[in-house]
Amino acid sequence: MRNTLIIGNWKLYGNDLIIQNLINELNKTLAEISKCLVAIAPPLLFIDRIKKNIANNIKICAQNVDIHISGAFTGDISIKMLKQIGVQYVIIGHSERRIYHKENNDYISKKYALVKSFNLIPVLCIGETELENAQGKTREVCESQIKCILDNQGIEAFKNSVIAYEPVWAIGTGRSATPLQVQHIHKCIRNYLAEQDETIAKTVTIQYGGSVNEKNAFEMINQPDIDGLLIGKSSLNATIFTKIVRIAEMKRT
Ligand code: PGA
Repeated sequence: MRNTLIIGNWKLYGNDLIIQNLINELNKTLAEISKCLVAIAPPLLFIDRIKKNIANNIKICAQNVDIHISGAFTGDISIKMLKQIGVQYVIIGHSERRIYHKENNDYISKKYALVKSFNLIPVLCIGETELENAQGKTREVCESQIKCILDNQGIEAFKNSVIAYEPVWAIGTGRSATPLQVQHIHKCIRNYLAEQDETIAKTVTIQYGGSVNEKNAFEMINQPDIDGLLIGKSSLNATIFTKIVRIAEMKRT
């Protein structure tokens, strides 16, 4: 059985007020939550402080990791350091990194392997652009983003892992995909993995991300193959984020 997983991706946002509000609200809300897993992915600078003040059952997620363990790589952070500060999940291949940092499938596959080798959980972001969507290539694009890891590491690498389907055109635009569209593509993703191993495919948590808010969360989360949500903007507002966590806790099973 897959647990519902809600991750708040703060991106390059956050300040004292946001941190304090989120810590207070999450600590209160998490006392009522038993089924849903909750993680936050703040900028690295804040992690230590947040960890010291937040309830133990809130997991910490990193937004990125370098492919090197150590060395002369100015500005980068290693998986070993992330593990040391208590990170449990690492976002890999977010479209903002694919676009602004030119990260390709091969490079992302290396990061994925590294995260797994340190026994942390990769959150592999995949998804099509607006043009690819208009060309009917959604499934093809998602499969090619997964295939690279399958080819390099095999289906075993997906055991208990997390894939976040995030159509690029839905991120930060206020234009989310519809729950039925998302359910359809999530089912395709799971079937694609099941072609290799049905049992492992069932263990994969498939999240949706892209303009999730407190209004569309209920319908999203109650689709059978939507196992969680990766939330950007709405995760910075303590009231909205905790509302979504409560909605996710009530997912019909
Ligand atoms: P958004 O971002 O919720 O602001 O659309 C989602 C994401 O980029 O993970």
